[in-house]
Amino acid sequence: MKEMALAPVSSPVTGELQVPGDKSISHRAIILGSLAAGTTTITQFLISEDTRRTVEAFRQLGAEIEENEASLKIHGHGPKALHEPEEPIYFGNSGTTARLMLGVLAGLPFFTSAYGDPHLTRRPMDRVVDPLSVMGGNFDGRNNGSYLPLAVRGGNLNGIHYKLPVKSAQVKSAVLLGGLFAEGTTEVIEDTPSRNHTETMLQAFGADITGSDRHIRITNSKSLTATDVTVPGDISSAAFFMAAAAIVPGSELTLRRVGLNDSRTGIVDVLSEMGARVSIANKQTAGGETFGDITITHRPLKGIVIEGEIIPRLIDEIPVIALMATQAEGETLIHDAEELRLKETDRILATADGLNRIGANIEPTDDGMIIKGKSILTGGQAEARHDHRIAMMLAVASLIAKQKVIIDDVSSIAISYPDFFQHLHKITRE
Ligand code: S3P
Repeated sequence: MKEMALAPVSSPVTGELQVPGDKSISHRAIILGSLAAGTTTITQFLISEDTRRTVEAFRQLGAEIEENEASLKIHGHGPKALHEPEEPIYFGNSGTTARLMLGVLAGLPFFTSAYGDPHLTRRPMDRVVDPLSVMGGNFDGRNNGSYLPLAVRGGNLNGIHYKLPVKSAQVKSAVLLGGLFAEGTTEVIEDTPSRNHTETMLQAFGADITGSDRHIRITNSKSLTATDVTVPGDISSAAFFMAAAAIVPGSELTLRRVGLNDSRTGIVDVLSEMGARVSIANKQTAGGETFGDITITHRPLKGIVIEGEIIPRLIDEIPVIALMATQAEGETLIHDAEELRLKETDRILATADGLNRIGANIEPTDDGMIIKGKSILTGGQAEARHDHRIAMMLAVASLIAKQKVIIDDVSSIAISYPDFFQHLHKITRE
């Protein structure tokens, strides 16, 4: 436990920052680099507790991964060079490692057992175990393989035609990764488009993958070709500082080289609709991923309705959007975000409870929340519930609180953003 008391700031948020590499893209780069033949260099790779789990998982399977200061090099020899791990694989707190690795392990012809930390152990795995079992993977675990720890015996998969029952990029990715090893074609259909980094990177690595936003088809790709990856800055990490600039009067902040993949930029749309000034410059594309510089200028905010197709485009940003909404004139309504209940913690409850304890007026609903603005945040004690995004959201809230915000435990922040407090300090105290 690492309690932290954060005092309010009296000056605007200014300057510029380069946020760390995108977590989703970093995980996928290790996975595809380890399955490919040849050397993959990943620059601006996110070094954090979650991505370390994926690196270590592949090392246990025999992948040769070299870590340098600013990059990671994978000397891949194709999936045939990977082998049965001697020890159980530890997924830690990482839902992305767990779900995506289960897709890979279902395709590899050997036995693996895997477990997670107490938080991940409570999160549902049947969402990937079910389709991967239909494809031919053998899983066993509590409640018919619904939860970690899990035992997997992979190999001999067949293609599947799968309509996603949940809005989840992790499930889509697990089925597509299984599809890499399956006989025939695997087709995934999603009602609401979710982040498409897996499809984009599979294409860059030469997989036989086609389709549109909602309809993706992959055919057994015997070999992937090693491809260098430059990881853009994580928009989900940048979101905390975008929100900081949006709620502290007089602020103007630039975030450099942030990922601008359309399937992730819901936060930019929300900020503009709420009234903040957002401008984007120096847009570039590499490996199918777009990135650029985002500048946020503080303006008075107003409440809005957030629902429907935008939800997966900002799912991880909802806690910090709720914070912005506490500073907006009028009500903000969030609907269709029931998936938040299944994240690192129940993020509907954690957001409402965390912010209400320091003076906000938020009513949790089954699939979202009703946030009544504008509230004066008084400060006080709040719980992060071992959820990195709740801890960072509360730290940003402290900037505008009247008294200190005391967060029970900020150690979870290392899951996605080990340098968070240095960066917060840089933009608030310079
Ligand atoms: C992720 C997908 C999302 C997101 C998570 C990362 C990914 O989860 O919340 O932080 O990298 O695919 P779901 O697939 O459960 O929506």
